[in-house]
Formats: sequence, structure tokens, C-alpha cells
Amino acid sequence: MNENILITAALPYINNVPHIGNVIGSHFPADVYARFHRVYGNNVTFIGGADEHGTPAVINAKALGVTPRELVDKLKVIHKQIYNKLNISYDNFSGTSIERHASISREFFEKLKENGYIEKGKVNMYYCPTCKMFLPDRFVRGTCPKCGYDDAYGDCCEKCDSSFNGNELINPHCHTCGATPEIKESEHYYFNLTKVSPLLDEWIESKKDVFKPYVYSEAKRWIKEGLNPRCITRDMSWGIPVEENGETDKVFYVWFEAPIGYISFTHELGEELYNTLWKDKSSKIYHFIGKDNIPFHSVFFPSMLLANGEYNLPYDVAGLNFLNYEGQKFSKSKKIGVFCTPLLDSDIEIDALRGYLMSIMPETKDSDWKWEEFKNNTNSELIGKFGNFFNRTINLLYKNFPNLDVDFNSITELDDLDKHIIESLETISTNVVENYKNIKFRDAYKQLMNLAIEANTYLEHKAPWTLIKNEKMEEAKKVLYICLNICKSLAILGSPIMPSKMQEVWANQLCFAGKVDEKGNISNVGKITVEKNHKVGEPKPLFRRIDDDYLTSLTEHFSNSLDISTLF
Ligand code: 2FM
Ligand code: ZN
Repeated sequence: MNENILITAALPYINNVPHIGNVIGSHFPADVYARFHRVYGNNVTFIGGADEHGTPAVINAKALGVTPRELVDKLKVIHKQIYNKLNISYDNFSGTSIERHASISREFFEKLKENGYIEKGKVNMYYCPTCKMFLPDRFVRGTCPKCGYDDAYGDCCEKCDSSFNGNELINPHCHTCGATPEIKESEHYYFNLTKVSPLLDEWIESKKDVFKPYVYSEAKRWIKEGLNPRCITRDMSWGIPVEENGETDKVFYVWFEAPIGYISFTHELGEELYNTLWKDKSSKIYHFIGKDNIPFHSVFFPSMLLANGEYNLPYDVAGLNFLNYEGQKFSKSKKIGVFCTPLLDSDIEIDALRGYLMSIMPETKDSDWKWEEFKNNTNSELIGKFGNFFNRTINLLYKNFPNLDVDFNSITELDDLDKHIIESLETISTNVVENYKNIKFRDAYKQLMNLAIEANTYLEHKAPWTLIKNEKMEEAKKVLYICLNICKSLAILGSPIMPSKMQEVWANQLCFAGKVDEKGNISNVGKITVEKNHKVGEPKPLFRRIDDDYLTSLTEHFSNSLDISTLF
């Protein structure tokens, strides 16, 4: 406990609005992990922000007739609203257009130069004489030299999945104006990945037991295939200029500067914290990312950090797989998916959503969103098992023992059922904590539900309502006292997943002091800690039941993604 931990979620591109697949791959698991470590007692900093640069923002802005700045500024607000609504507890959600990020990126680059990892190289690039600009690969279209598809990009074909050199494209034309581009020589900066490769390999080996096997093996595969120097600048105006007030139009390649954002956004929170997290060797950095980002976070960015030499490397790179929708890939145009802008005017219960997301977290393989499962998870798991246990316990206490004059020392007799449930409380709680710690969130959630199931079974076997009827008050009080302690653990352990519901039940129904997710509150988990003369509040169902009509309305509502052209 009391470790310094930095948790980051992949910085989303801000050329569009997110869908729930984007959320389950980074913001949400990162948030659960941040919340867990806070309640565990560690010093947590959780950062994220907008990845504002890159060609897609330029292309989308152009299509809408606005500047990239205008597009990004509008969309950034929507992104922020969505993460707020989802209760993602960022300490800083920033963006790569802040000035501090530009200067930190340049300093980073200068240090790489100083350390001998940067070289210059010449490349032939498409240049549009009409638009008067070098054309990034996405801006050039033409016929694929491999399959003949007539809308291939400058460097690859989406139809046959092949990639090729720029000059191989047949009939190239500028995507913006249709003119035939010229090939022009341009000088760029390269980061010598080959030189850093041995250091990188050594580092990855040291992570063999920390990284998930597929993260480790993907990183190894990149090294084995051989790392070539990589061009880290681009001829365009949208991005961070390599030289402040320089004469050229060169900006950093977005994948060079974006991960440095993790450093800049920490720095925004103060120099001292920045030093602790990025320089003090005992700190731990965790990146939460989707699987398409694994090479950048396990190879490219760590290579930059190694070559720079001043910063800590990530302790773990938690790569999540993809989420599909009812067996298909998300598609905005086909209205296939669960999109996030509809969240902003929906009464869907966020913690029911978070609970379901937890149950389908794509930890080891791709998973699938199914509305029917969302309904079942809410009705059968969250209401039927988890919520039901809280509700029955609080209800019985509220009606029969408004002041529960029991504490653990006053209990004289524990029978086998009591002993068994107290033991389960301890062992299952320990399992939940271990699973959270090891980023096995699905297991943590399953174990949490298991504790509720066992607790319900205990309650049924003991049937305190019958004990009360038969006036066996001491026995009834003991049973409910044990149940109240289990509720306490369930609420604390459930708080990283369902923070608002757990706070609500903690404060208003269980009536415990402080906050459910108070730093270090995990020390109250798995044990009997409730003090004598505890008074609970009025019971209320925790979650709203989902019937078929409501489910249909949710399904329809969430299939509509915002058409960003309506923003301008
Ligand atoms: O895939 C993406 O959405 C990227 N914008 C992620 C960047 S993560 C980080 F390195 F900045
Ligand atoms: Zn053009």
C-alpha cells in the first residue's frame, strides 16, 4: 500500500465521437483500476486526454468545411461530457494542443538528438501542385497495384489489405482536388529504432511475467522482425511544429508526440508529482489501451523512453481486445453498435451499464455486446443477486432492529453456517482484491457476485424472518449483523465498478460514515468491523429493472451516433 501509481487511458483521436467499444478498451478499465488502487490505499494519478493531431482530423475537417481546430474543439467537449457521464474519474483529461505539451515534446526530441538517436533522411513524397502541400498517404488515392481497386490509399489498399511504396500506386490523384501529384523530395527526421532495439529487448524480457502473454509476444515479434529507423516528422501544418517559430511546415508524426502527452498531462498537475511518477524508480505506470495500440505502447513509446533515458518506463501495458456488437463489427453508417453520444440524453443507469461492461470486458479475446445480456445482467445479477442481498438485509434491519445492539465481541455462539460464511467473506474478498490487482476484472466481478450468492444462501438458510416470528431475537440479530458486515464489504469491493450506486447505498441505506471509496477503505473488507448500535436507513432498490419495452427503447436510442456535420 501507499505506492505511487500513474494510470493512463489511451488518448482518443478527436476526429469523431466514441462508441462503447472505445470506452471498454481504455477509459473504463483504466477507471476501474484507478478506483481500485485508491480504495486500496495507493497514491493514484489517472490521466487521459485528447489526441488532437493526425491526418484523420484534417480529412474530416476538410470534408466539413471547417478547420481542424474548429472540429477538434467541438468534439473535445463532447468527448469530455461522455467520459464525465460514464463517471470516469480522470485527475486530468487534457489534450495534445496545450502549449506545455508542445514544449515537452520538443525537449524530448532534443534529448533524443543529443543522445544520438535522431538522424535526417530524404524521402520521396507526393506533392499536390494545386493544393501546394505534401500529401499524407491518406490524402492520395489511386488504383491498387496488387488488386486493381480504384480507391486505394497512397500506401495501402483496404480492399486486398496489401501495403506498398508510395510510387507504386497507379493513377495517383489528390483526394482533395483531384490533381495529379508530383513526386518531390522532402527531408525528414528519423528515430533510430534499430539502435535502441537491444535495450528494448532486454526491457521486454524483464516484463515477461508482468505483461499478458499476447502483449509480450507481440512486442517480441516486432523485435524479431527487425526494427527500422522510423520517420517521426510530417509535412503538414496540423500538429506540433518540430521547431518553435521554425521556417518549415514540419510537424511531429502524431504517434511520436501523442504518447508524450502522458508525460505532459502529468506535468500539468505539478512538477513534484511529475517527478515522482516519471522519475522516481519506485513508481508504477500502467497504460490501458486497445489491442491496435499494443505495438506503440510496448515497442515504439518504450523505445523513445529508453533512448531519452530520463523517464520511467511503463510497469505494465494492459492491452484490451475488441468489442463487437451482437456478433458484428461496430458500424456507424449501418447503425450497428452502442454509441456514446446518446448517453448524454439517456436515463440509462450508468452503474448498470458499467456492471455489464465489466462482465464482458475483452480481457483475453474479443467479446460481444448483447442487449439481451445487458438486461439479464441487470435483472438477474445486479438486482436478483447483488442488490437483493443489500435490500433484504437492510429491510429486515430497518423494520426489526433500527438500533442493532450487537458487536462481534457480544456474539457468544457461532454455528457452522456462521463460521462458513465468515470464512467465505474473507476468502472471496481476498480473491476479489487479487483479481483487481492483477487486472483480471471479469474474475473480480464474478467473485463479487459469488459472494452475494453465498450471502443470499446463508440468509435463506438462517431465515431471520422466521427467527423473528418465533421470537429468537438474539439469533436473528446475530445473523443480520453478519449480513450487514457482508454488505459493507460488498459495497467497498463493488465501488470501483459501480461507484455511484455503492456510495448511495453506503451513505443512505447502510449509513456508514465517510465515503465508500475512501482511500485505504479496503482494510475494512473481508472482516467483521461494524460497531455496536449501528442504525441503517430506509431500504430502496438499488437498480431499475429492465423490461422488454425499456430494452427496445434503449436499443433504438443507442444505435444513433451523432452525425458530426450537424455540429457546424
Ligand atoms: O488509437 C487511438 O485512438 C490513438 N489516438 C491512441 C493514442 S494513445 C497515446 F499514445 F497517445
Ligand atoms: Zn490537391
